[in-house]
Amino acid sequence: MALNTPLTAQDVMRDAPVIPVIVLHDVAHAVPMARALLAGGIRMLEVTLRTPQALACMEAIAKAVPEAVVGAGTLRSAADVRAAVQAGARFGVSPGYTPKVGQACRDAGLPLLPGVATGSEVMMALEDGFDALKFFPAMQAGGTGMLKAWQGPFADVKFCPTGGVSAANAPELLALANVACVGGSWLVPNDALASGDWGRIETLARAASQLPRG
Ligand code: 3PG
Repeated sequence: MALNTPLTAQDVMRDAPVIPVIVLHDVAHAVPMARALLAGGIRMLEVTLRTPQALACMEAIAKAVPEAVVGAGTLRSAADVRAAVQAGARFGVSPGYTPKVGQACRDAGLPLLPGVATGSEVMMALEDGFDALKFFPAMQAGGTGMLKAWQGPFADVKFCPTGGVSAANAPELLALANVACVGGSWLVPNDALASGDWGRIETLARAASQLPRG
C-alpha cells in the first residue's frame, strides 16, 4: 500500500496484524522507537494522547520517519482531533465513540477507528459511516466470544480488538473472520523505552508483524 496517498481506516487495519498502542513520556524516545518498529515490519503507529509529550512525539515521528504512519490514540474530543492532525497524525483511534469526535475526524479528513464495546455503539458508529472499529476493552468486554457473536448481526464490520491483548492471545483473535488486526501495548514496553533497548522493540515488532491472520 502506498503511504503518500490518503488512507482509509480499512487501510490502517489491514497494514499489519498489530497496531502498537504507544505511551511516550520523552520526546527523545519517539524517533528511535518508531525506527525500531519500522525495522520490525510495523509502520502504523498509534501514539496515545495520554502524556503531555504525545503531540511533540507525533510531530517528531512524522518529520523524521516518513516511512512510518503516525496515528493518534485516545482521541476524546474534537479539540484532540484538531491537535493531532496539526501534529501530523494520519489516522485516529478513540477509546469510545461520540458523533462530535466522528464529525471532527470527517472535517479533518482523518480516518478514525472508533472504540466500541456494545452492539448499540457499533450501530451508532455505522450510522455515522465508520465500519472499521476498535473493540475496546476487548478482553475485558467479552473477547473472542463477543467477536464471534458479532459475526451474526455485524458480518460486514471489521474490528481491531484492543485491551488485554498480548502475543499469547493475539493468534486466537486474528483467526476470526471479523478481526482485521489487533492493538496492544506489548510491542513498546516501558522498560525498553527507559533503557533505550530499541533492539527489543524491533524483535517484538518483528514477531508481531509475522502473526498469521485468518
Ligand atoms: C488502549 O489504550 O488501547 C489499551 O489500553 C491498550 O491495552 P493494553 O495495554 O492491554 O494492550
